[in-house]
Amino acid sequence: MLRSTLLAAARSPHCRSAAERTPFLRPIVDRFVAGTDVDSAVRTAGELATDRFVTLDHLGEDTTDRRQVEVTVEAYRTLLSRLAWAGLSGRAEVSVKLSALGQALPVDGEKVALDAARRICAAAAGAGTTVTVDMEDHTTTDSTLSIVRDLRLDFPGTGAVLQAYLRRTEADCADLAGPGSRVRLCKGAYDEPASVAFRDKSEVDRSYVRCLRVLLGGQGHPMIATHDDRLLAIAEDLAARAGRTAGDHEFQMLYGVRPDLQRRIAARGHRMRVYVPYGTEWYPYFMRRLGERPANLAFFARALGSG
Ligand code: FDA
Repeated sequence: MLRSTLLAAARSPHCRSAAERTPFLRPIVDRFVAGTDVDSAVRTAGELATDRFVTLDHLGEDTTDRRQVEVTVEAYRTLLSRLAWAGLSGRAEVSVKLSALGQALPVDGEKVALDAARRICAAAAGAGTTVTVDMEDHTTTDSTLSIVRDLRLDFPGTGAVLQAYLRRTEADCADLAGPGSRVRLCKGAYDEPASVAFRDKSEVDRSYVRCLRVLLGGQGHPMIATHDDRLLAIAEDLAARAGRTAGDHEFQMLYGVRPDLQRRIAARGHRMRVYVPYGTEWYPYFMRRLGERPANLAFFARALGSG
């Protein structure tokens, strides 16, 4: 109930403008977001890259303005050239949301998003790195997977994201477990109806394990995105049983979430990648982080109270 309320607030322009006008929120936002500009993003990537890998996300979503799509493509090009210049391409890739690239435009949205994503993939290839395409709400899943399939024709290293809470995902894992296929498996962060998604935590966790079995037993490069101790232990066990070694799969966590655990997993010789968002459009991303862990609300309330 609380999670649904927070996720509804994530989509409310009214709540958004109230939050953006609240300076006391900044320290809590800073826990999850690595600053508003590319300098902060590259600096954070450099710090994390000493023991971890990174995927950087230029924040933004649900764009309905073609000019904004061009601004986003340019932001990624700048980011990628800055990463190359800083010698970080071997440790850092980028994550992209197709809704920031015009996927929801009423005319030719899918075509616009594919074209923009292709230009970002070309810039990433030029910089010596890769792109992973984030997954958004279930109404976009077919379109997003179809765009990823197209991108992979020219850029085979392009990563896809699958969400274990969707009932369809075990089958999508089987489709995407082929040689070289990079797939990030997460639980899923949107408020989805029971007709398409498991709503119960234990059902989502069981689905996550079924998906792990398919991906780790396949021939691709699974990217295990969770902070859940139980699922991490199961993933390590399944990876060992499947004869996986450190270079052929990886663990992923969000910037600001369980950093000690991130470091411990990296120190055990695993590949650990941190998802680092930056930019001014932090509001919906931040609200989804609140929705994942209601305890975060206590910090939020304290910050509001201190104002
Ligand atoms: P769960 O929510 O059960 O959390 C397990 C434990 O982790 C908690 O008990 C707590 O200790 C800690 N934790 C988790 N979230 C926290 C938070 N916000 N603050 C503090 N502690 C927290 N989703 C999506 O729909 N599309 C996408 O493209 C992506 N991409 C993505 C990339 C990466 C690298 C990660 C790690 C996650 C995503 N997600 C995502 C988000 C994902 O779907 C999911 O909502 C979160 O990872 C939380 O789920 P957990 O698996 O961590 O389990």
